[in-house]
Amino acid sequence: MPPRGFGGVPARPPEPGAPMSRRKKVYEGKAKILYEGPEPGTFIQYFKDDATAFNAQKKATIEGKGVLNNRLSEFFMTGLTAIGVPNHFIRRVNMREQLIRQVEIIPLEVIVRNFAAGSISKRLGLEEGSALPRPIVEYSLKNDALGDPMVSEEYIMAFNWASQQDLDDIVSLALRVNDFLAGVFYGVGIKLVDFKIEIGRIWDGDFMRLIVADEISPDSCRLWDIKTGQKLDKDVFRRDLGSLTDAYSEVARRLGVLPTQSTPMTKPTLIN
Ligand SMILES: Nc1ncnc2c1ncn2[C@@H]1O[C@H](COP(=O)(O)OP(=O)(O)O)[C@@H](O)[C@H]1O
Ligand SMILES: [Mg+2]
Repeated sequence: MPPRGFGGVPARPPEPGAPMSRRKKVYEGKAKILYEGPEPGTFIQYFKDDATAFNAQKKATIEGKGVLNNRLSEFFMTGLTAIGVPNHFIRRVNMREQLIRQVEIIPLEVIVRNFAAGSISKRLGLEEGSALPRPIVEYSLKNDALGDPMVSEEYIMAFNWASQQDLDDIVSLALRVNDFLAGVFYGVGIKLVDFKIEIGRIWDGDFMRLIVADEISPDSCRLWDIKTGQKLDKDVFRRDLGSLTDAYSEVARRLGVLPTQSTPMTKPTLIN
């Protein structure tokens, strides 16, 4: 029996991969959609296949990217929870969606760099891949119209995006995430060059806490194979270096998030 809609009219089945439409959409961004969650204070985060770069001047749909990022973000957030780094992840709902705690996002991209690449190489004339003296935390204002400009702690406090206490907590969270991610990636032969996270506020009555939100995936990290230097992150798309899905699948496979064989298992062969 097909599902019945209102008035006995057969409901049209959702298109394959299409987000369910009866939920209320709260926000649609470049890579994800937020829907109201089943309980107050929760959202469903839907990972799209859309890829954008250079402030959305370059766009494409990359089949399977959303599924991979949903699984990978789950993997990293779960690991962070296990080592006591608070974050928004509650549980995965399906291949493309996860339940998260609703936060009030601090309008900053918090970037941690271990090696020079991208804008810091350009700005300071550093060779891509050169080691930095120590992990460097920097901030960009989340504002597409302005191209996410870099901002200083002075700006952040003057415009009241975050307080000095918030910034201390943000740096501490960012460095813990960096140590965790760098270690996990090192274990599978990948160098964590840099990454960005977003941080949000949650309230327990009057008590406010900062937690890691948004996503952690190859969309938000620079990942290089330690042996070959091969790029395994969104730079593959930015710089037309090959298949983005292949790169992200390789990351997922190494982390054990995807089965080593994505082709169906062959039947066991009986010997004798
Ligand atoms: N736990 C959360 N609570 C509220 N908002 C969140 C949470 N996690 C991420 N967000 C916000 O949801 C949006 C995710 O969609 P995305 O496609 O990345 O948007 P954008 O194009 O703005 O980067 C971002 O604006 C991000 O700040
Ligand atoms: Mg985003």
